[in-house]
Amino acid sequence: MKDTALRISEFKDSIFGVISKLARDNSAVNLGQGFPDFDGPEWLKEIAHQKMQEGHNQYAPFQGTPFLRQEVANYYKHFYNLKYNPETEITITVGATEAIYLVMNALINPGDEAIVLEPFYDSYVASIKMAGGVPVPVTMHAPEFSVDPRELEKAITSRTKLLILNNPHNPSGKVWTKEELLMISELAQKHDLFVMSDEVYEFLLFDGAKHLPTASLEGMFERTITVSSAGKTFGLTGWKIGWICANEKVSKACRLIHQYITFSVSTPMQEAVAEGLRRLPEYLPGFVSLYKGKRDYFYQEMKKLGFEFKSPLGTYFMMVPISSKTKLSDVDYSMKLIQDNKVATVPPSAFYLKSTEGERYLRFCFAKKEETLMSAVANLQGL
Ligand SMILES: Cc1ncc(COP(=O)(O)O)c(C=O)c1O
Repeated sequence: MKDTALRISEFKDSIFGVISKLARDNSAVNLGQGFPDFDGPEWLKEIAHQKMQEGHNQYAPFQGTPFLRQEVANYYKHFYNLKYNPETEITITVGATEAIYLVMNALINPGDEAIVLEPFYDSYVASIKMAGGVPVPVTMHAPEFSVDPRELEKAITSRTKLLILNNPHNPSGKVWTKEELLMISELAQKHDLFVMSDEVYEFLLFDGAKHLPTASLEGMFERTITVSSAGKTFGLTGWKIGWICANEKVSKACRLIHQYITFSVSTPMQEAVAEGLRRLPEYLPGFVSLYKGKRDYFYQEMKKLGFEFKSPLGTYFMMVPISSKTKLSDVDYSMKLIQDNKVATVPPSAFYLKSTEGERYLRFCFAKKEETLMSAVANLQGL
């Protein structure tokens, strides 16, 4: 029989699936999966139900419902003073994941290079490759997860089409500083690069950290494609409603692909998310304090267990250094923790193409119920 496409021949099962299966097989507490093990807000679920009852159940317009596109435009204006035209510059997608796929396929010609800052969210590299592009890794060096401007500039060639930035950053929990963002944006302008800015954790910020959208930096509005989604902000990752904010030309290209990939996105969920976005100013303080409580608890417990690191300023992840505990690599140590301590984490070396720095860390997700975090801490005692 003929073989499947070469394009995907190097693809492997995602690390998340592998870890989740191992966690199930070993009855381990799962702090690997990057999503809450509790439900999002009751009021928003009720709105979704209402939207179905009101008859929002047929195909939505392919670019997204007018209500949701308007509410996305409103929140960018309200929080960041960014002005997007909902008719031509905002496109609704099946989560940020579809958005990333569309952007890569809208911009990349075969052989074009795309800079990925490692450790990276794994769908970037897959989407670049599916578009026929070449991912070029630049390492965010531990423990600050900072990029060396000279290394970044050296990685840029005449074939570089874009750079992917994730802010706040999964897995490190880093919130990029204004100086760092300016350094990246200056290079993007100097070398005429697009920047895809993945901002799905934009509202998950602690200790006074502020989110600075890449598109808001001087000279960056036109060349930045911002991707975000409702999944993390409302703790409803299964709803899979995302969006792309980009100039009209790039939006049109993304929409041309979207119309043949998914055509349109769940109508009642879009309408519910629009209502959710409208209520962001009232909703966010409670949301942030819920996650801050989890972060503070888990961070203190990890410190008591002897792990030394800085508490993350954003996202619901912690990159925890393991060198003081073991000589094992991240993969072997995570297997050991699953089997011996019944706690599952993600070995971050899966998020690197070049550097081995990830082998000295494990990624813990603290978006879990109090009892889940307490069980994990109890299982880790004696490490
Ligand atoms: C950095 C980053 N981007 C994108 C996504 C995917 O978002 P969505 O669930 O909206 O597709 C995730 C999910 O974990 C993520 O961590």
